[in-house]
Amino acid sequence: MESAVSRLYREAPASSLPEPAHSARTFFNGYVGANLARAYSQRGLFDALSASEPKAFDVLARETSCSESGLEALLRTGVALDIVRVENGRYSLTQVGDELRHNIGFFTWAIGGYGAFFRDLSNLAGSEGGDHRAFIDGSMVALGSDQVNQAMMRTIYDEAMAGLPQFACVADLGCGNAGRLIDLCKRFPRSTGVGIDINAQAIALAKKNVEANQLSGRITLHRTNVLDAVEAEEVRHALAPVELVTCFMMLHDLFNVEAPEMVIRKLRRAFPQARCFVFADTFRMPMHPQPDELPIFSLGFELVHGVMGIRLHTPNDYVEAFRKGGLSVKEMRHFGAPNTYIFVMEVQS
Ligand SMILES: C[S@@+](CC[C@H](N)C(=O)[O-])C[C@H]1O[C@@H](n2cnc3c(N)ncnc32)[C@H](O)[C@@H]1O
Repeated sequence: MESAVSRLYREAPASSLPEPAHSARTFFNGYVGANLARAYSQRGLFDALSASEPKAFDVLARETSCSESGLEALLRTGVALDIVRVENGRYSLTQVGDELRHNIGFFTWAIGGYGAFFRDLSNLAGSEGGDHRAFIDGSMVALGSDQVNQAMMRTIYDEAMAGLPQFACVADLGCGNAGRLIDLCKRFPRSTGVGIDINAQAIALAKKNVEANQLSGRITLHRTNVLDAVEAEEVRHALAPVELVTCFMMLHDLFNVEAPEMVIRKLRRAFPQARCFVFADTFRMPMHPQPDELPIFSLGFELVHGVMGIRLHTPNDYVEAFRKGGLSVKEMRHFGAPNTYIFVMEVQS
């Protein structure tokens, strides 16, 4: 017999148009999924779910310290979004879940680092030349950057660095949480390191990491603007013995303060002993691809820098600035993340 509901209920007519690459539905669910991925990462659920054996609910609850209702909601949403599969009451990550976990650094960057910025986008887009720093969590930008490094850049970096001569002292400009500097000092146990970052939250995180890795005796950290540091008397003596200068994902900031060529000249003067410079950065997309071919990260990176009035360059602009600043590029490689390249350079003879 026909029920009252089935008598009243009418299906919406199906659209005959093909669904576009994105729609209100996919944007909304994508936003939910992005926040879910970040929660999985922060609560240790990605790690717990990626063990070789699927796990029961109570094991996951214990390992992640989630409340029963909290874990239930996280898992149910994960199953709905095809991030998690459940078989015989045991949970594991799907291929989509694995991919999200691999890319988690971009979500840490977007939600943890720029969450407040994205939420206030409308106001920020209306204010010319405002100070955007209060809307950015520097420690999360640094953590996200390091997670991307660990997941996608390390092997490429190792290969690029393999041919470099030994160095006694390395300086990392815009060192973030010092993850890369720590790696380098561990790999070269007789080397010392200097990390410089303008952001107090990033330096606080860097200090913790350096201490946790028992490297306080070999790595010194300075919270200051790189462009001031290279001219300040008190930092200059710490920089004088540096033989290798690295700078990851930060040159675009410096190149908006002073002309790129002048920045390179300044850095060369500040490090008189340095023969080798290894720089990497993310560039603007050569042209905007079709919506269904957009890579992860690039659009968000371009959006926040556009609103901040920070111009993003092309790899060619950098190569030109390096050349004019007296550095010759020995090697340029794609560096794991979209539109990101690493340059290994030596001082022109
Ligand atoms: C995207 S993060 C990259 C962090 C780290 N290099 C990495 O790759 O993991 C950029 C870092 O550069 C720092 N930074 C930006 N402008 C700076 C400046 N003028 N002087 C020193 N640090 C700066 C930021 O605070 C931030 O920690």
